[in-house]
Amino acid sequence: MSKLSTKHLLGIKELTADDINLILATADSFKDVINRPIKKVPSLRDITIANLFFENSTRTKLSFELAEKRLSADVVNFSSSSSSVKKGETLIDTVNNILAMKVDMVVMRHPNPGAAVFLSKHINAKIINAGDGAHEHPTQALLDAFSIKEKLGNIKGKKIVIVGDILHSRVALSNIFCLQKLGAEVMVCGPTTLIPKYITSLGVKVEHNLRKALEWCDVANMLRIQLERQEIKYFPSLREYTMLFGLNKQLLDSLSKKIVIMHPGPINRGVEITSDVADSDQSIILEQVENGVAVRMAVLFLLAGRV
Ligand code: CP
Repeated sequence: MSKLSTKHLLGIKELTADDINLILATADSFKDVINRPIKKVPSLRDITIANLFFENSTRTKLSFELAEKRLSADVVNFSSSSSSVKKGETLIDTVNNILAMKVDMVVMRHPNPGAAVFLSKHINAKIINAGDGAHEHPTQALLDAFSIKEKLGNIKGKKIVIVGDILHSRVALSNIFCLQKLGAEVMVCGPTTLIPKYITSLGVKVEHNLRKALEWCDVANMLRIQLERQEIKYFPSLREYTMLFGLNKQLLDSLSKKIVIMHPGPINRGVEITSDVADSDQSIILEQVENGVAVRMAVLFLLAGRV
């Protein structure tokens, strides 16, 4: 297979296992490119891409921009905090004005779940979801899958636990869809209040004891506690959360096997993960960031139809 089955990347849910494997294989080639002395290819030379960020981002925004520039696309960046959105302009009007400037692809992060799907129904450009509220963050799941495959050789049959704030996490949902499509077993672990009831209907295991979850898994993906999305208190205190669900070096070293540690960032050091774990040789957190550029190059290249 050399083509994706979809026109947009709205979520992992819509992708087939073949789509995901094609993206990962293409990212492999682009990883070679970005490790060469000349890190640029002319693949998207006549394509214009707008990066629309209606919510804060460091990794995703920089990674997409770098991926686009490595592919020789023309890039425009939009940040809602310094735009006419502040004067009341709607999402559709904002995007239509940008498209009037002849933009071919739109990468969008938005706080509202479904914003990318909405846009794809109203706009004649290829849409890539860079995170929509607590819904999906497809390129994060793809770079996570790429990083697990790179570290462990394969994803099929591997056991991955996602720890923490599952309720507010687009990373968790996209990872669950992606890893299951690739044949992994997925568990979620966290306080009862941060694990949505519907999660078992997705075929994932649920565990509330961190040590048991870590003994079960090959890979632990430690999520950030998203205090900005929590309108009510889901646990008594951060200190208690850290005592029950935070990963420290003593716990990591006491496990019966060496597991791989991941985190999508940004890290709350000392809350969900201590610095010595984040910076340990079992952590692949910076490899995830590096792989993000190659994976996003693959997504942009395949959606642009240059195959
Ligand atoms: N992982 C991630 O989405 O990070 P940013 O919010 O910094 O983009």
